[in-house]
Amino acid sequence: MSFFGNLFGNKKDKSALGIDIGSSSLKVVQLRKKHGAIVLETYGELALGPYGGVEIGQATNLPADTIGKTLTDLLHESNVTTVDCGVSIPSSRSLLIFIKLPRRNDPKEQKTIIELEARKYIPVPIDEVHLDWFILPDASTEAQTKSANTKPKDINVLLIAVHNNELKLLESVVQKAKLAATFYEIEIFSTIRSVIDEPVKPVMIIDIGAASTKVYIVERNVVDVSHAISQGGQDVTRSISVSSGVDIAQAEQLKKKIGISGEKGDSQSTAIENVFSQIFTEAKRVLTQFETAHRRSVASIVLTGGGGVTKELSTYAQTFFSVETRIAAPFAKTQAPEFIRPVLKNIGPEFSVAVGVALRKLEEMS
Ligand SMILES: Nc1ncnc2c1ncn2[C@@H]1O[C@H](COP(=O)(O)OP(=O)(O)OP(=O)(O)O)[C@@H](O)[C@H]1O
Ligand SMILES: [Mg+2]
Repeated sequence: MSFFGNLFGNKKDKSALGIDIGSSSLKVVQLRKKHGAIVLETYGELALGPYGGVEIGQATNLPADTIGKTLTDLLHESNVTTVDCGVSIPSSRSLLIFIKLPRRNDPKEQKTIIELEARKYIPVPIDEVHLDWFILPDASTEAQTKSANTKPKDINVLLIAVHNNELKLLESVVQKAKLAATFYEIEIFSTIRSVIDEPVKPVMIIDIGAASTKVYIVERNVVDVSHAISQGGQDVTRSISVSSGVDIAQAEQLKKKIGISGEKGDSQSTAIENVFSQIFTEAKRVLTQFETAHRRSVASIVLTGGGGVTKELSTYAQTFFSVETRIAAPFAKTQAPEFIRPVLKNIGPEFSVAVGVALRKLEEMS
């Protein structure tokens, strides 16, 4: 696990903690405001695999008790000094649905229509989920509005549903770890906060986790598209393991060492490239669909999640998509000592969600 001590002292009351319960590891980030700047106080990560009988880097599905205990260990090892936190909800445990509905001038009536309509799209009884929604600003309808000086007939709504069981699990993890969470946020929103610098043009975020890859297209800080691909870092490792006849632990090491940049034709690099080529092929379909439907180009791609750390992946992605690609740098939004910068740059993508949650918590507290 990566960890450094509490470099900036210990003011309990002002620190904000972000927690990301990923399928393969827990991440925590503690931030504090100092003279208007956002200071990184500490961060840490602990792999869940060994607690679930699988190797580091593989996905798990653990009960709240085990996650709570692991989180307690991590908080301790990372010298976290606050209990004030927010927690991310995995995209895989939530449902994001985009719908078009007739506009109503009366907000109450509008709310009723949205909530009634939502029932058609949520595959479980509505009282089993926590439902939230936003009315999206739409670039094309905005343009219509300007030209005709009237409001468009329809509104675009983003429905967000999280199963009550998932919220209960997270709440009991928080309780077990003796923390005080004020919000639970779907990870996409945390990621947007920590990695998007250019909010105006469409940006595609590719979050390569252990179990899956999440693809989002975000424009003006609003999510336009959310899509899950059922392959992630663990599949890259398994592919190396099979092609090279090594066990999962060795394959995981090889993956981190070699990345996509090995000698042309060597079996490990080829195994890595094969998985990323499948993941990116699906991501490209999402990109093309967006560009066709919206008649706008995606301006850039951001790689995030642990898989985003893969050596030379951004060069490979840039060639694959022919779109400018960068690696997420969530810690760039925080102040930290110079000597730790290279490490933060390297591990940044893994912490995008936790940083985003901590940033929201910090805003909430100030
Ligand atoms: N240096 C590296 N090079 C390549 N892959 C890496 C590197 N570091 C971590 N990974 C891979 O990243 C994956 C974990 O990423 P991350 O921590 O974002 O996943 P997670 O949040 O636990 O999973 P999910 O988002 O699917 O719930 C693992 O499969 C791991 O092997
Ligand atoms: Mg993740």
